[in-house]
Amino acid sequence: MNTGQDWRPEEARKSLNRILPEVEQLFSEQIREAGQDWHQFKHRLYSEWERLFVCLHHLYGWQYDFFYTLHRILYSLVSYWLERPLELKLLDAKQEAKPFSYVSEKMVGGVLYVDLFSDNLSRLADHIPYFKKLGLTYLHLMPLYTVPHGDNDGGYAVSDYRAINPDIGSMDDLARLTSALRDEEISLALDFVFNHTSDEHAWAEKAKTGDPDFLAYYLTFPDRELPDQFQRYLRDIFPTVRKGSFTWCEEMNRWVWTTFNSYQWDLNYANAEVFRSMAEEMLFLANQGVEVLRLDAVAFIWKRLGTNCENQPEAHTIIRAFNAMARIAAPCMTFKSEAIVAPDEVVRYIHPDECQLSYNPLLMALLWEALATQETKLLDHSMRKRYRIPDGCAWVNYIRCHDDIGWTFDDQDAKEVGIDPVGHRKFLNRFYTGEFPGSFARGVPFQFNADTGDLRISGTLSSLAGLEDALSREDNDLIKRAVHRVNLLRSIVMSIGGIPLLYIGDEWGMLNDYTYLSDPAKATDSRWVHRSRKRWEAREDLSDQETLEWRFFQDMVKLTDLRKNIPAFQNGGMEVISTGNPHLFGYIRAFEDQKIMIINNFSDRSQKMDGTVLTKYGAKNEAVNLLRNEIIPIGGEFLLGEYQPMWLDIS
Ligand code: GLC
Ligand code: GLC
Repeated sequence: MNTGQDWRPEEARKSLNRILPEVEQLFSEQIREAGQDWHQFKHRLYSEWERLFVCLHHLYGWQYDFFYTLHRILYSLVSYWLERPLELKLLDAKQEAKPFSYVSEKMVGGVLYVDLFSDNLSRLADHIPYFKKLGLTYLHLMPLYTVPHGDNDGGYAVSDYRAINPDIGSMDDLARLTSALRDEEISLALDFVFNHTSDEHAWAEKAKTGDPDFLAYYLTFPDRELPDQFQRYLRDIFPTVRKGSFTWCEEMNRWVWTTFNSYQWDLNYANAEVFRSMAEEMLFLANQGVEVLRLDAVAFIWKRLGTNCENQPEAHTIIRAFNAMARIAAPCMTFKSEAIVAPDEVVRYIHPDECQLSYNPLLMALLWEALATQETKLLDHSMRKRYRIPDGCAWVNYIRCHDDIGWTFDDQDAKEVGIDPVGHRKFLNRFYTGEFPGSFARGVPFQFNADTGDLRISGTLSSLAGLEDALSREDNDLIKRAVHRVNLLRSIVMSIGGIPLLYIGDEWGMLNDYTYLSDPAKATDSRWVHRSRKRWEAREDLSDQETLEWRFFQDMVKLTDLRKNIPAFQNGGMEVISTGNPHLFGYIRAFEDQKIMIINNFSDRSQKMDGTVLTKYGAKNEAVNLLRNEIIPIGGEFLLGEYQPMWLDIS
């Protein structure tokens, strides 16, 4: 009889009670040694198991060997937790006592390529004082795993998740660095590249020999029948490199699914063994001291015929299952989602049970959009609608990262403010490639798709903001203007709520570097224009106060210091305000009795702001602009200079 009751909690409990004693038996000695910690592990296991069970059942419950899958997964959880170093277990306990510390205004992230920044891992530790000065509390090292020689998508074609690329060091180097960072209260962030492996990964090598167990790790096809059916709905991610999402593999005599480059083979998550194996790689990384795990390319992990195979419901279920496993065996680790897709979809990955952190590609794209148009209506409208995310989660706000800029705003949002989305994207691309008359930007086109007209943009913050152009013209006014643009964008990611993430190099105004064009492994991928080996902070003349780099850096340091002393800048609670001027973008940040109004002028002319807006939000007759420590009388109107941001204390 169907009573309508959910049978899963009961079955979850039963399965656990059947499997756990067997696993405990296997590890009885280590469990005894773990003492009290084991009880804490068990406590977490009992509170998260049902959630994990439900996810796994959704994915694999129909398979005849589901119970075996559960068994193997519990075994993985216990064995990896037992191997977890003591200091990480202490960190776990700390995190559990004070869950989700990422809300703090003290948080500032940074991201860099180890080889480009310091040649290798062991030398990176020498730069910890520099990171401290910048105020970093988490550091994302771009993928540093073993990869194929030559082209490897900047490290995103991983051949072994447990070995460091020998050119930059070893696992021991990583361990030393991680603990040195932790001593300085900087958390390590690494990538979990789980949508695909490189075609040189051991699993791929075994698949190539025809081993059926490993063929089942990937999505391979003997002929074009299914690939052609799938292909009709798929988007080309790197269309200038290759058309279509399938690659012919000579050794296998089969087509293999490759969403990105032909050497990046998509994993088959319909196979429970793939889920379990990748979960073990994740727990291995967690045990190396990773506190922020960047989930790469989350949108692509589940395929369904007749869809574009992006953002499928099962993609969420898989991440939630990983999340439950991390909560059990490595609870100090937080997930960061890399979903560079439509705003409606980006937000679906953000949840305490899925990814607590997420890149904010919408804010990023719209900052550049407003800089080009000098108008804030789309930014204003979209942020009103879309900034809110669940409690216990935070946006990671960035201006530039290692990837291109895609115009991922919502078409309907654009229409609501009278913008034609298709035409507008074309304009933005023309603007940022410098084609549009009067443009200040020196961006480089990325992945033009002749069939759809789609295009994305590469380039560094400073080059896109006009500095490269201004320097080449040797025009001091234009240089000043470009610096103002950079500072304007920085002001917003520092104050709007969430974790600001600095792309290291931008703090000193790194320009485009065109030398990638002479490297055959890089020349076809313009993203290398903003992945440069230049390292300003290692220069002898760091104290040369005259250089532009030095001033950029000082401004950055001042801004992070200031942010950290404004409790209202912690995560959450951002309210967009009507500034009454189409060039100004404003919002309120409030906490306890502190209230800050931030106003940003996106125009290259001075703009008037109506002081009564401030009084409406509780300001008395003056406000303090914290960025310059100046008093702003707010009786009538007041002026913001070209591209000027103001952080007005109105409490
Ligand atoms: C992510 C990375 C990008 C890479 C892709 C494939 O989007 O940020 O650099 O090309 O995944 O792994
Ligand atoms: C991936 C790519 C990135 C691209 C995006 C488009 O994340 O790495 O370059 O912009 O897909 O969806």
